[in-house]
Amino acid sequence: MILVAGATGSLGSRLVPRLAVGVERVRALVRPPASMRGVASEVEVLEGDVRDRDAVARAVAGVRAVVCAVSGFGGREASDVRSVDGEGTRNLIAAAADAGADHFVFVSVFGAAPDHPLELQREKFRSEEAVRECGIGWTIVRPAPSGDTWVHVVGDAVASGGKALVLGRGRNPISFVATDDVATVIVDALAGGPDRRVVPVTGPEDVSLQGIVERIGRNLGHEVGMRRVPRTALRAMAHLARPFRPAIAARAHAAVLMDTTDMRYRPAGAVVGGMRIDDVLASAPTSVA
Ligand SMILES: NC(=O)c1ccc[n+]([C@@H]2O[C@H](COP(=O)([O-])OP(=O)(O)OC[C@H]3O[C@@H](n4cnc5c(N)ncnc54)[C@H](OP(=O)(O)O)[C@@H]3O)[C@@H](O)[C@H]2O)c1
Repeated sequence: MILVAGATGSLGSRLVPRLAVGVERVRALVRPPASMRGVASEVEVLEGDVRDRDAVARAVAGVRAVVCAVSGFGGREASDVRSVDGEGTRNLIAAAADAGADHFVFVSVFGAAPDHPLELQREKFRSEEAVRECGIGWTIVRPAPSGDTWVHVVGDAVASGGKALVLGRGRNPISFVATDDVATVIVDALAGGPDRRVVPVTGPEDVSLQGIVERIGRNLGHEVGMRRVPRTALRAMAHLARPFRPAIAARAHAAVLMDTTDMRYRPAGAVVGGMRIDDVLASAPTSVA
C-alpha cells in the first residue's frame, strides 16, 4: 500500500492516477471537503489533516511507502507553511516510522536550506533532516518551480480575454519543471525502493515570465497584453501583509526573489525533465495554447 498525502494538489492529482494503475494499492489522504472525483475507484480515500496526529496515524496504518506532497504555501488560505510543510509533515514522517513503513518519499523544494530567506525553504530543510533521521528508508525530491503553476498564474486571465499577469520585471530566466516530470521521478523512486538519495528535478530550459507570455502569444497567433505588478508593490505587499495575511506576504516575497535572484536550477545529479513550457501550455486545462 502506498499513501499519498497532498493527493488533491497539482502534483498529487497527477501522481495518484499513475500509481493507481500499478499493482500496489493506493490510499489518498485528503482534507475535507475535498473532491477526488474521477479518481480510480481502487484508490482508498481517507479524510484527514497532516496537523492532526490521530488522522495521520490512521493514514499510515499498513502502508509500505508514503509520498508527502503537501504544502501550505500555495493552497488554501487556512493553511500555512510552518504548520503544514513544518509540523504536519514531521507528524507524517514520525507516524510512518512508528508504523514500520519502508520508504518515505518527501517532496521538498529547490533551494531548501536552513538560512534561506523564505520560510518554505527553511521548513522543508528541517523536514528533510527529520526524514534523514527517522530510521526508515527515504528519497528526497527537490523540484524546481512548477511550470504548470506558473503557466496558470501568468496565463489564466488570458484564457478569459484578459491580460497576462507578470510579477516584477519578469525577465529573469527560471528553470521551470513540468509537474508530470516530477510525478515520473516519484513513480520511479517508489519502484526502485528507498535509496537515501536527494534528487533535484529540473526542467530542460530556462524561461522568464515574459517568455511564458511570448509563448502564449505565439500559440494564440497574436500579441498578448501584460498586467504588471511592479517589484516595489510586491516588496510593499511582502512587508505590509505579513502581520494579517502572512500567506499573501510570503507569496509576494517569493515573487520578489524569483524576479531578482538566480533562478536557474542546474545542480549536480539533477534529473532533467523532458517537458518544455510549450508542452506544459499544450496540456493546460484552461487552454492558452
Ligand atoms: N508548485 C511548485 O512550484 C513547487 C515547487 C517545488 C516544490 N513543490 C512541492 O511539491 C509538492 C506539491 O506541490 P503542489 O504544487 O502540488 O502543491 P499544491 O497544488 O498547493 O497542493 C498542496 C496539497 O497539500 C494539501 N494540504 C495542504 N495543507 C494540508 C493539510 N494541513 N493536511 C493535509 N493536506 C494538506 C492540499 O490539500 P487541499 O486540496 O485540501 O488544499 C493539496 O493537496 C509540495 O510539497 C510543494 O512544496 C512545489
